[in-house]
Amino acid sequence: MIKSQTIEEIKSRMDIYEVVSDFVALKKSGSSYKALSPFTNEKTPSFMVSPAKGIFKCFSTGKGGDAISFLMEVDGLSYIEALKYLAQKYAITIEEDEVDPNYQAEQSLRESLFITLNFAKDHFIENLWETDEGKSIGLSYFKERGFSEETIKRFDLGYSLDQWQGLIDAAKGAGHKDEFLEQTGLKIVKEDKAYDRFRGRVVFPIHNITGKVIAFGARTLKSNEKGPKYINSPETELYTKSKILYGIFQAKNEIRNQENCYLVEGYTDVVSLSQAGITNVVASSGTSLTDDQIKLIQRYTKNVTVLFDGDKAGIKASMRGIDMMLTGGLNVKAVPFPEGEDPDSYSKQLGGEAFKEYLDENAQDFIAFKTGIFLKEGGDDPIKKAESIREIVQSISLIPDPIQRTVYIQECSRLLHVDEETLISETNKLLLKNSKEKWEAPSPEIPQEAYEPEKTETKISRDEIIKIQERESIRMLINYGSELVEGLEEGEISLADYFMSESEDISFETPIYNKILEIFKENLANGQISTIQQFLDHDDLSVKQAAVDLSTERYEISTNWSEKFQIHVAHESQTLKNSTYTNILRLKFRIIQKMIAENMENIKSASEEEQINKFLSIQGDLKSMEMTIAKTLGNVTVK
Ligand code: UTP
Ligand code: MN
Repeated sequence: MIKSQTIEEIKSRMDIYEVVSDFVALKKSGSSYKALSPFTNEKTPSFMVSPAKGIFKCFSTGKGGDAISFLMEVDGLSYIEALKYLAQKYAITIEEDEVDPNYQAEQSLRESLFITLNFAKDHFIENLWETDEGKSIGLSYFKERGFSEETIKRFDLGYSLDQWQGLIDAAKGAGHKDEFLEQTGLKIVKEDKAYDRFRGRVVFPIHNITGKVIAFGARTLKSNEKGPKYINSPETELYTKSKILYGIFQAKNEIRNQENCYLVEGYTDVVSLSQAGITNVVASSGTSLTDDQIKLIQRYTKNVTVLFDGDKAGIKASMRGIDMMLTGGLNVKAVPFPEGEDPDSYSKQLGGEAFKEYLDENAQDFIAFKTGIFLKEGGDDPIKKAESIREIVQSISLIPDPIQRTVYIQECSRLLHVDEETLISETNKLLLKNSKEKWEAPSPEIPQEAYEPEKTETKISRDEIIKIQERESIRMLINYGSELVEGLEEGEISLADYFMSESEDISFETPIYNKILEIFKENLANGQISTIQQFLDHDDLSVKQAAVDLSTERYEISTNWSEKFQIHVAHESQTLKNSTYTNILRLKFRIIQKMIAENMENIKSASEEEQINKFLSIQGDLKSMEMTIAKTLGNVTVK
């Protein structure tokens, strides 16, 4: 058990900004920082860090808390693991209370697996540096490949002895349980025989972002072996292949500092590049890139440079990866290599400095990269050319940012000698195709709170929500219309003026509330703020009745309403401006949604290209307004 004094010390030293910065590229925004959420795939930052309060908040997922909870969320650490991570970061010595003999048994399974994996890593390292077999076979292999001792240590490279139970025996001797060896995939059990998974191979430990070993890849040293070149750990409780990138722990700070991430295919490419002085590099490890891996890169940078083999398979893999990254909103470059060369071999051939220069000089944006490849393949063949144009346009249409799309269309037009108009209309056709499906579903990036007035357990129909919103707005207006609130620029203004200036020519759906709003507006135009009394005395019976209802204080009706709709009732007088503002936002949000639905109909029924383009661009604007309001609303309602 960690002593409570140690926990206190950790808590007093931990700095939310410093802790989060190790995982997310933060940008200053007022007194806080913001970033793309590490918990979801988003294009507009909704993740905030407040150093003053020592907390983070993710408005897309609703997650929030202090540095400890951040670590638990971002890397799946347990509470104890997070404390240990922080202790290490701030060089705090952990003092533990007397270790309970049942301690090991009580530890969570995950922690035990981490401990066993760490033991295996140390064991492989020891084999490499301390045993004759390791030195003469493993270490000399690495040195032949040009890896320095420093590099070998940086990546914790090791060696598995050519024995059936080398690791199993060592682990047993050190008191590690059999079940953990099995559950980490280090031990294979077949027909009541047990043996090591990795034997007579050099070993590449795979670290998670916090630097813990979660799996291994192991390369054979025999060129004539029938088995696979690499044997990898199976997926386990701790290791999901599609969620991790090889080298991310060693590279993450450099990726952030250099604002670029080199993406390669293999373990040895990562190690070689690092050896050549290029340390912002990770590998997808032979599988095609996944969305989770893209998300992982996105925590640190928006810029990726793809370095894949110059062979057919490598090019194909890079093309696929590029399209996925474009869709994720990343800026993608690629470097072509001569046929038969990969980053590993080429960096060795040129040497560190010259290789760096090669990368700088040959990094092309994806348009130029794709164009180069297609031109090489197709030459002047017009059919091939048409095909490549379609391919490139397809990639451009994946880019979420319209301004960037325009820039790339211009470049494509220049490189392939196709006029811009044609490219634009081709792109738009694809955009339309993609968007039709996308826009029909609500965006997952919009916080749920935005759709509903407050946290609701009971489902309320949309009509009811609208009625509540409108009722609230009208009630505020006629009860507090002449109260002064802090305006945005002009100092104190009346709540009525504030409401009108923020909501302009809004109209309500509920007939009676709209009627009252119209009367209110008319009076306001004559310089008069209507009071509740005026409505109570009104000639129109329906107005009169509504006014009676509206004159009821919120807390008086709250029991009924809050029970029915689970509406949180705040202290009204203190939050007058805030609640007015929230009301206005909700109304605006609703109106935008209506416009989006209408415009969607326009898109569907439009037949002419020009029309479609116009509606598409309107739709884009509306969507981004919707997002902005939703985000703000998320901020307001969560507070
Ligand atoms: P490569 O064959 O390019 O491996 O496969 P490499 O890492 O560059 O190794 P060297 O340079 O030949 O020594 C790329 C990646 O594909 C995965 C590994 O992650 C490898 O790093 N792979 C490849 C496997 O998992 N199993 C295999 O049998 C082959
Ligand atoms: Mn290789």
